[in-house]
Amino acid sequence: MSKSTKSDLAQGAVQAMSAETGQPEQTVYLNGEFMPLSEARIPVLDRGFIFGDGVYDVVPAYRGVPFRWPQHLARLKRSLGKVRIENPLDDRGWTDVVTELLVRHRWDDQFVYLHVTRGVARRDHQFPAEGVRPTVFAMSSEFKPVSRQAIEKGVSAITLPDERWLHCDIKSTSLLGNVLARQTAADAGALECLMFRDDFLTEGSSSNIWVVLDGKLLAPPRDTLILEGIRYGLLEELTRSRGVPFEIRRIRRAEVVSADELMVTSATKEILPITTLDGKPVGTGVPGPVYRELFAAYQEGKAKSHEKGWPPPA
Ligand code: PDD
Repeated sequence: MSKSTKSDLAQGAVQAMSAETGQPEQTVYLNGEFMPLSEARIPVLDRGFIFGDGVYDVVPAYRGVPFRWPQHLARLKRSLGKVRIENPLDDRGWTDVVTELLVRHRWDDQFVYLHVTRGVARRDHQFPAEGVRPTVFAMSSEFKPVSRQAIEKGVSAITLPDERWLHCDIKSTSLLGNVLARQTAADAGALECLMFRDDFLTEGSSSNIWVVLDGKLLAPPRDTLILEGIRYGLLEELTRSRGVPFEIRRIRRAEVVSADELMVTSATKEILPITTLDGKPVGTGVPGPVYRELFAAYQEGKAKSHEKGWPPPA
């Protein structure tokens, strides 16, 4: 076993090597310890495995600095609160885990995955008795730059009914509805799906969706039918600073299919134009002016996030 603790890092620990490939191996965090990915184990009775009883978050980090970390941390805590899992770490603890994972990997840009389940207990739907500790897992992966082709030409999407549950505001690890929707999109050769509930737009399988109509950017309400992406608040700020008219309201399917522009945002996709919907061109079929404005603003926001430095003062 080559488990290590935080103090190893201070002593200049380097990335673990895989015995199988001879290549550097991902280091992950599990319940207070850092270890090579291949050594991380959870018991089969973990409620995350048995019931999908857990929450997660995905934080992008550019050149070692997490982007909008306070917002991601706040959302993780909200998710934990909504499913009544006690927050296992304080803010400093979470910040240290993220910092440590970033330092242990050499990729310029990374995304950190944070995951908490209700812990290990005899299988019973009801919450376990007090004393069961949440399982805490975190890992960092390489953030491969979003492809130029996708930014310049746009991506394709399909429309689907939203068949998920009614608490989509919780970033839950129970993602079967999202997984099936994404696979349907992939089977159709599309990058993402746009889901509709009762004729109104909700979101993508793992992203938020934006609609431009008559020069105005429209977003579906932040209610329990969508996950409020961290890019949701960001785009709201960017539209304000760039003078793009912005409105939050329910958006009918007919408006989506006749939109001038459509776009998709997520931690890993950043902001991408959707130029084909159900095989038909969106607007003029090329990324539009509102997209280009917001893309530029997003990139500026990323660059600016370095100004404050990392980690934040204790
Ligand atoms: N997903 N809606 C859903 C259902 C999502 O899964 C995500 C992100 C978003 C956008 O949230 P954000 O802007 O904070 O990334 C909206 C992440 C990337 C994932 O599950 O991997």
